[in-house]
Amino acid sequence: MKTTSVKTATKTSANSMLVLGIESSCDETAVAVLLRTESGDIHILSSLIASQDEAHAPYGGVVPEIAARAHMQKIEGLVLAAVQKANIEFKNLHAVAATAGPGLIGGVITGLMCAKGLALSLDIPLLAINHLEGHALSPRLTDHCPFPYLLLLVSGGHTQLLNVEGLGQYKRLGSTVDDAAGEAFDKTAKIMCLGFPGGPALEKVAKNGDAGAISLPHPFKGKPHADFSFAGLKTATARAYANFGVATKKNKSDLAASFQRTVTNIVCERTERAMDMFKRGQPKGVPLRFVVAGGVAANQSIRKGLETLCAKHGFALIAPPPIYCTDNAAMIALAGVERLAAGYSDGLDAKARPRWPLDEKSARHNPASGSGRKGPKS
Ligand code: KG4
Ligand code: ZN
Repeated sequence: MKTTSVKTATKTSANSMLVLGIESSCDETAVAVLLRTESGDIHILSSLIASQDEAHAPYGGVVPEIAARAHMQKIEGLVLAAVQKANIEFKNLHAVAATAGPGLIGGVITGLMCAKGLALSLDIPLLAINHLEGHALSPRLTDHCPFPYLLLLVSGGHTQLLNVEGLGQYKRLGSTVDDAAGEAFDKTAKIMCLGFPGGPALEKVAKNGDAGAISLPHPFKGKPHADFSFAGLKTATARAYANFGVATKKNKSDLAASFQRTVTNIVCERTERAMDMFKRGQPKGVPLRFVVAGGVAANQSIRKGLETLCAKHGFALIAPPPIYCTDNAAMIALAGVERLAAGYSDGLDAKARPRWPLDEKSARHNPASGSGRKGPKS
C-alpha cells in the first residue's frame, strides 16, 4: 500500500466540504479523503493506493477477473484506513465520490457499489465520477491550476488531448484510434520479455541502446488532426524483434531505444497539432498552460520532448506529482468536491459504465475515433 503525505483535519467550518473518493477502474484500488475549505483551498487528508502489479505480473498485463477480485478484497479495508488516516469520522463526511467509468466493469461496479452503500447509510450525496474527469482536474489538486488548459492524458488505458475549459467543459482535440501509449509500451515489453509493467522496464533497457538503430513507423505524421495511433508501431516492433531470431542484449536495447524515441516523436508531434488548435481558441495575451498526466508521463524521453515543445510554443508545463499523475482516488474526490460545490449530485441508480467518453459530442462526431483497451474512452 502506497501512502501520500497527509494533513490532519481538526474540524470543518460551515461551508467547507469533506469528501471520500474511491477509484477502482483498472488495477489500482484507491481511497482518499479530501477537504475543500470555505475559500476553495484543497487539502488531501489521506490518499491510499493498493496496487495489483504483483497479481498481474505473471500474465504480462491486467487480467480483468483478477483485478475485480482484488478490488473486492481490498476496498473495505482501504475505506476504513483512509478515514482513520484522515483523522475524521464517517459522520463528518459531506459526500462520497466514486469512479463510475470508463474502465474494467468488475472493478468499477465494486467501487461504485461501495460508494452507494456509504451514501445510503450515511445519508449523504453520491457523486458518480467519470475517471477521465478526475485526470483532467488532477493538476488542481496540488498546482492551483486555473482553467483553461491543454491536457495530455497519456496512460495505460488512455491517450488523448483535451481542452479543459472549466468544470464539466471538456473539448477533445485528439485521441488514440487504437492502443493507448502505455498499452503499446506494455505489449511491446511483453513481446520482448522485459517484464511488467512494461513502460518502466522498457525505459530501463532503452538507456543503453541506439535510438537511431531501427527505423519504425510514425502514424499520422503531418496530418492536421491531433489523433494518435500506436498499433502499427507495436506490430512493426514485434516484427523487428522476430527478425533478430535469438535477440542479443544489444539488439534488445537498440530496439527498445528506437521504439521509445518513436513514441516520443509521435506524442510530441501530435501534441504540437493540439497546441496550435488550443492557441487558436484563446484570446491574445492569455497565459498558455499545458498539463501532462498519466503513468507514461514518467518517461524521461517523453518528458524532455514535451519540455522542449512547451518552450518552443510558450506554454507553461504543469505535471502533477507522480502519485497524483497515475490512477489515484484524490483526483476522484476532487472531481466530486468540485461537482458538489457546483450543486451537482447523482442518484443511487447511477450506472457503472465500461465506456464513457468525456466529450460525448466529439466522440460521436470524430470519424478518427476508434477503440482501445477500454473502448472509445475519450
Ligand atoms: O496512469 P497509470 O498508472 O494507469 C493507467 O493505465 O490508467 O499508467 C500506467 C501505464 C502503464 O502502461 C505503464 O507501462 C506506463 O504507464 N508507464 C510508463 C512508464 N511508467 C509507467 N511508460 C513509459 N515509461 C515509463 N517510465
Ligand atoms: Zn487513469
